Amino acid sequence: MDTSKIQEQFKELYGEGGTIYAAPGRINLIGEHTDYNAGFVLPGAIDKAIYCVIKPNGTDKIRAFAPDENPDKTAINSQFGLTEADKPKERWAQYIFGMVRELNKRGATISGFDIIISGDVPLGAGMSSSAALESCTGFALNDTFQLGFDLKTIALAGQATEHNYVGVKCGIMDQFASCFGKAGSLIRLDCRSLEYEYFPFNPQGYRLTLINTCVTHMLGGEYNERRESCERVVAAIAKNHPEVKFLRDAGIEYLREVVGKVKTLDYIRAEFVIEEIQRLLDTCELLTAGDYESAGRKMYETHAGLSRKYTVSCPELDFLNEKAKQYGVSGSRVMGGGFGGCTINFVKDELHEEFVEQATADYEQQFGIKPKVYEVVIGDGARKLES
Ligand code: GLA
Repeated sequence: MDTSKIQEQFKELYGEGGTIYAAPGRINLIGEHTDYNAGFVLPGAIDKAIYCVIKPNGTDKIRAFAPDENPDKTAINSQFGLTEADKPKERWAQYIFGMVRELNKRGATISGFDIIISGDVPLGAGMSSSAALESCTGFALNDTFQLGFDLKTIALAGQATEHNYVGVKCGIMDQFASCFGKAGSLIRLDCRSLEYEYFPFNPQGYRLTLINTCVTHMLGGEYNERRESCERVVAAIAKNHPEVKFLRDAGIEYLREVVGKVKTLDYIRAEFVIEEIQRLLDTCELLTAGDYESAGRKMYETHAGLSRKYTVSCPELDFLNEKAKQYGVSGSRVMGGGFGGCTINFVKDELHEEFVEQATADYEQQFGIKPKVYEVVIGDGARKLES
């Protein structure tokens, strides 16, 4: 993205001296809804990011402007204080406020600042624009106020912002990927220990392509409800196996022991999670062995599980998944939290053009919406840019 515009806007509104930072959105190859179950994920940062320009203003107020939210360039969109009572009403500003609060809880002393936020991560597409905003703000504050936090703390503060100021009880995947991303590599993250390894990803002859349904069906609480299902199953299993703290700790045998003791809905959801954690481990082995076709089949299995067992898909996503199958795409599935957003498609170079052309035309004919297509470039994590 050309950032000169927001740098100019910053100068006009707040004067010279702003510093610019970026934090990316993410993809996830496989391992969905496993992070809050202490399992594994395989995300990567992308070349689309949220950018901010920031400068301390010597007051106890934050003046924040998001030109994408309000095209009136002369307006200062949101102004708020630093204490718990000062939560702004604009949702986008709540992420900034939440990061300030969460970093202060971790020992920082952040005073007032001016900030402009912009970006090219599509909103509501499952590419983690909110985590990008949290990581960007956190990284920028850490550098600007010399707070001395490591990246892990910034990622955790981002997750806590979602929990405490936005109301989404998310896992750590999105913020971690946005902070720790590395060009050319996926991140194999153990969401319990937060140990991770970079997983070079450059499968010759294949591409990763996202197709955005451009719909979102998320009803409030749908995500949190799934997390609660998992927690109820863990509680049931732990009665006989107190060492089980997360579904990660429970094999399918332990799950079988609580059949009839938990709601069927919860049981089926837990079954998906346990299978998905194993599926990720198997997929990593397949990728290491260069068996991309089998790895792609795992993505289809994930889609089937997310659609039928975890029920976080929707007709638009299922349609694109079917089309991918029909046109011979090696792997395809709904990506991220679900309920709309993108499918991620692992497609052979020679099929790519025809698939994208035909699947998007079919989709438009079926739903009357032109889907958006993004070619995935795996990029770097949060960073300071040259001003
Ligand atoms: C959202 C959440 C993540 C993760 C995914 C599903 O993106 O923010 O923590 O749970 O959904 O894998």
